[in-house]
Amino acid sequence: MSQRVLTGITTSGTPHLGNYVGAIRPAVAASRESGVESFLFLADYHALIKCDDPARVSRSRLQIAATWLACGLDPDRVTFYRQSDIPEIAELNWLLTCVTAKGLMNRAHAYKAAMDANHAQGQEEDAGVTMGLFCYPVLMAADILMFNAHRVPVGRDQVQHIEMARDIASRFNHLYGNGRELFVLPQAQIDEAVAVLPGLDGRKMSKSYDNTLPLFEGGARALRETVARIVTDSRLPGEPKTVEGSALVMIHDSVATPDERAAFHADLRGWLGWGEAKARTTALLEAHLAPMRQRYENLMARPDSIEDALIVGARKARALATPFLEELRQAVGLGRLSGAAAGRGASAGGSSADSAAGTSERLAVFKQYREGDGRFYFKLSAHDGRVLLQSEGFEGGREAGQWVKRVRSEGLPAAQQAPVALGEGVDWATVDKALQRLMAHDAQQAEAAPRAQAT
Ligand code: TRP
Repeated sequence: MSQRVLTGITTSGTPHLGNYVGAIRPAVAASRESGVESFLFLADYHALIKCDDPARVSRSRLQIAATWLACGLDPDRVTFYRQSDIPEIAELNWLLTCVTAKGLMNRAHAYKAAMDANHAQGQEEDAGVTMGLFCYPVLMAADILMFNAHRVPVGRDQVQHIEMARDIASRFNHLYGNGRELFVLPQAQIDEAVAVLPGLDGRKMSKSYDNTLPLFEGGARALRETVARIVTDSRLPGEPKTVEGSALVMIHDSVATPDERAAFHADLRGWLGWGEAKARTTALLEAHLAPMRQRYENLMARPDSIEDALIVGARKARALATPFLEELRQAVGLGRLSGAAAGRGASAGGSSADSAAGTSERLAVFKQYREGDGRFYFKLSAHDGRVLLQSEGFEGGREAGQWVKRVRSEGLPAAQQAPVALGEGVDWATVDKALQRLMAHDAQQAEAAPRAQAT
């Protein structure tokens, strides 16, 4: 089965070199591997935890989306979306909140750091701590578990959050899985060489320390001026320098080839002065970033094209999230009453793809599921459970999901092209009627909530 790789960036600032090296570059590289399905998103619900300035959140979303695309992300190959376009994530957040121990959250670094800062300033422990901050790791777990990601490329500081996501997932599986792994247990993936890039002052490069090197904003000039501010020791040109632990060297190395690194280190250990070392670092960064910066500027000038890409991404993401959440709702006892009455409770793998939870119309439902043979299937069932269409098995859940999406949005012609068989005693006219009703229902839903379109 293909590996799912997922990562997000909080949209509360302007992308910097640390984001690029720690998250964007490895994620783009992974998205090009075969056998990998990538999910990349703008963590804009997370942004509200750190930032209550709407203009900044909104500008940051645009900048970060443009950055991903400029850095080579191909939205046709990956699922590229905004967290806040997937309401299922907020709902899953609640299901997970209810199985998460408060004690686990007490131990989260971000919360502990806030408490420590309060202690240091002689303030009450929880001063300024919102429930958003306290529960931050649960929302992050929802991001990851929603799409059953196997791998999560992150900086080292986020590893604890991935471990918490595993804890929460195991607990949920144990409570509600009925012997089944509802959630995949995710693994953090760290690029050992450059996991945490130091900032200008040697601490982790982070917008909260105000020590970042902007990736594109400000152009070549800002890049040069910022490199000039990187803190070095006071050894003079001609004196041998210590390469280890130097922020400048690590920043240089983050975009250098192995040969360039070796030459740079050798020269510093020999004669190279810090001033010249900075000039070399600037030139190297500029060569690496300039072509991407050009694309970034073109994208920033056309926000509509970015919005379009994100809307397509949200549709792709929801084609998976909607049926999966339905399955989870059923697992915790929030499934359809009609299903329970018919004794069709939480059958293994059964999941309804109808996103309009709570409606009691007699609509047909798409179900996506995986069989014991490891393949992915879908079927369309009438409201009474009669099978109208049964698909062949697919290699990946994604392919099944894409067919469901197509049939659901295009109706009969797509159904007739899909690798499906008619249910016993069913004719195409019946399928047509069921699909027409489903499509009319979806259109109505879309009108009611333009962002909350059904798959
Ligand atoms: N917390 C991450 C950060 O600040 C961003 C993030 C949110 C994330 N949700 C995620 C990263 C899920 C990986 C997976 O860097």
